[in-house]
Amino acid sequence: MQIQVKNVSKKFKKNYVLKNINLDFQSGKIYLLSGQNGCGKSVLLKLICGLYLPTNGEILFDGKKYNSNSICYSGIRALIETPNFFPNLTGLENLKLLAKINDIITEEEIVHTLSKLNFKKFLNRKYCEYSLGTKQKLGIAQVLMESPKIIILDEPFNALDEKTNILIRKILIEEKEKDKIVILASHINIDFENFVDQVYYLDNGHIVKNRRNK
Ligand SMILES: Nc1ncnc2c1ncn2[C@@H]1O[C@H](COP(=O)(O)OP(=O)(O)OP(=O)(O)O)[C@@H](O)[C@H]1O
Ligand SMILES: [Mg+2]
Repeated sequence: MQIQVKNVSKKFKKNYVLKNINLDFQSGKIYLLSGQNGCGKSVLLKLICGLYLPTNGEILFDGKKYNSNSICYSGIRALIETPNFFPNLTGLENLKLLAKINDIITEEEIVHTLSKLNFKKFLNRKYCEYSLGTKQKLGIAQVLMESPKIIILDEPFNALDEKTNILIRKILIEEKEKDKIVILASHINIDFENFVDQVYYLDNGHIVKNRRNK
């Protein structure tokens, strides 16, 4: 699978946030969009998901354009910015409700994803009682539970402790080895060596550096 971002620009009112961006994403790789606060990382992720339409340019999935007429590529799951769930339902109830939309996974599969994330003790507690990191983990579980071809996580490590951080990295490496495309965004200059395959740096609306790690 391949995602091609071709000559994409995005403006809000008169302000261009992204200018003529060209990027490629391939199966079996982990990508990191990096850059300062407000440089356009989340906007670019929303464009890839089809939540925003480009002002100019196009985004192709295996050569095909989806993000027109409000149709998105169905193999994407994303957690962009903060997760949003029903506060008075438990984590498991929230995920079961969301899983009903596509109806392609069982409750056992949802529980399996949650247990990989060490989530079992929170399963039956209300979402509103969760800590920030636990909410973030539930958001990541939602992204992973249907085994999507494309995994998009915006600032996934912000709220997570060191142990959970290592666990999530391990899970994302497993996903890439299953030939998924993993796209992360982070404003923090963490040491991503040996974890991501390619870093794209955004600055002032442009890709300024394009570093391949492997
Ligand atoms: N819906 C919108 N309407 C107007 N401006 C927007 C909208 N969404 C984003 N922007 C602007 O686009 C710019 C890029 O925002 P974006 O959220 O992509 O930054 P970011 O790189 O993700 O920053 P951060 O590191 O803080 O998450 C900002 O100046 C923001 O104000
Ligand atoms: Mg952002």
